[in-house]
Amino acid sequence: MILKRLFGSSIGRKILVAITGLLLIGFVIGHMLGNWNMFFGREEMNAYAAFLKSIPGPLWTARIGLIVIFVLHIIIALKLKMENSGARPVGYKKNNTQRASAASRFMAQTGLLILAFAIYHLLHFTFGQIEPSGFALHDDQGRHDVYGMVIHSFSNPAIAASYVVAMFFLAMHLVHAVQSMLQTFGLTGEQSRPTVEKISIGFAIFIFAGYSAIPVAILSGLVR
Ligand code: HEM
Repeated sequence: MILKRLFGSSIGRKILVAITGLLLIGFVIGHMLGNWNMFFGREEMNAYAAFLKSIPGPLWTARIGLIVIFVLHIIIALKLKMENSGARPVGYKKNNTQRASAASRFMAQTGLLILAFAIYHLLHFTFGQIEPSGFALHDDQGRHDVYGMVIHSFSNPAIAASYVVAMFFLAMHLVHAVQSMLQTFGLTGEQSRPTVEKISIGFAIFIFAGYSAIPVAILSGLVR
């Protein structure tokens, strides 16, 4: 069976990490585009959030799918990392370590920081545990005031800063993740490597800037 073959070999596990990673990148892009409704105003943001809640079937399918993909990605990636360290008990020679970028050496650490952020973020905006007063807001149409909730939260410099720091770790993870994924899919050769590196860095900066723009715009009073 194809799943058994994928889970059962090291290259199969690499492919699974790359596929789940690609799906997570799809979510990260989609969620960022959705969040940009904050720049269009309360009506657009709250209508968008209300629309998502008005289609419980697709919403719950996406939520459960996302959790499964996220958990698989973490478990398989950590297993691969342990296998790789186990296969190399003496470690890399010094010059090889120097060649590896900081982003590639800290994949497990940045990945686990993203997991910590995801838990904090769900407690914050989905379960309303971090700032209950902001979470309780409703707009004049009686809808959950997601716009007001986000403004309320990011007016607090500590919360805004925590999101920007988390987006930095997400971007660091992405710099290496995109290159590594393209390599697993066989899309990187010796010649195209510098271009692929630039694309990965450009994409990570785009995600960092695209998400961070929201807390920064609110804290600076551009969006209120
Ligand atoms: C500045 C950055 C971000 C902002 C302003 C933001 C905003 C939000 C808001 C407002 C919600 C609740 C939506 C609602 O109740 O209708 C939400 C949910 C969520 N966010 Fe984010 N988000 C950010 C970054 C991220 C990142 C980087 C990830 C993934 C790594 C992420 C993953 C999620 C997930 C999984 C949910 C739950 C979705 C659901 O309940 O179905 N968010 N976000």
